[in-house]
Amino acid sequence: MNIETKQQQVEATMRLAPVIPVVIIDDARHAVPMARALVAGGIPAIEVTLRTPAALDAIRAIAAEVEGAVVGVGTVLTPKDFHAAEQAGARFAVSPGVSPNLLAAADDSALPLLPGAATASEAMTLLERGYRYLKFFPAVPAGGAKLLGAWASPLPQLRFCPTGGISLTSAPDFLALPNVFCVGGSWLTPNDKLKGGDWSGIEQLAREAALLKGVVA
Ligand code: 3PG
Repeated sequence: MNIETKQQQVEATMRLAPVIPVVIIDDARHAVPMARALVAGGIPAIEVTLRTPAALDAIRAIAAEVEGAVVGVGTVLTPKDFHAAEQAGARFAVSPGVSPNLLAAADDSALPLLPGAATASEAMTLLERGYRYLKFFPAVPAGGAKLLGAWASPLPQLRFCPTGGISLTSAPDFLALPNVFCVGGSWLTPNDKLKGGDWSGIEQLAREAALLKGVVA
């Protein structure tokens, strides 16, 4: 599949809702009720990070059982991660940065990649490879909305999903930028709510996040 088709898929995913939850899941049995709560709250695209042994099972379960969810894989670092997530049913992949090997794996795969960039040079290198949709990571430590806003004029082809250090309160600063479609964040799926099975609490956090649609530029 060519890069342009995959870029269109990434754009469609980024436009589903103003926030993509970044999930760190310890127990794969929590995956389906968590994803149902997020979808019910208006947040369909869900990034499950490969930071725990449960992650691939969680992706598999959401892909198979949760209607309306678009499950993706996060913290993709290697070609092996990329292929394992594709096999598990992930619909998109997110990486904190890129390496030549990871980009080669993405070129050979149908799974669309949202690659991370933290500098103008990284963003330009990815643009040369055909990537117009990037994760800006780590958003707040790297310079926040001020830095990302400063890229809008010189790099008008690019659109970003800033992630890292963003909250419900600070999300509007990013979403109001012309080069941002959505933000990523872990605040929708806090560990205590996952562990305690507080699915209505997660649905409520999703509802609040979905309302941010009103501030998207
Ligand atoms: C991460 O690195 O875990 C993601 O970027 C999410 O960051 P956050 O926990 O600061 O929302």
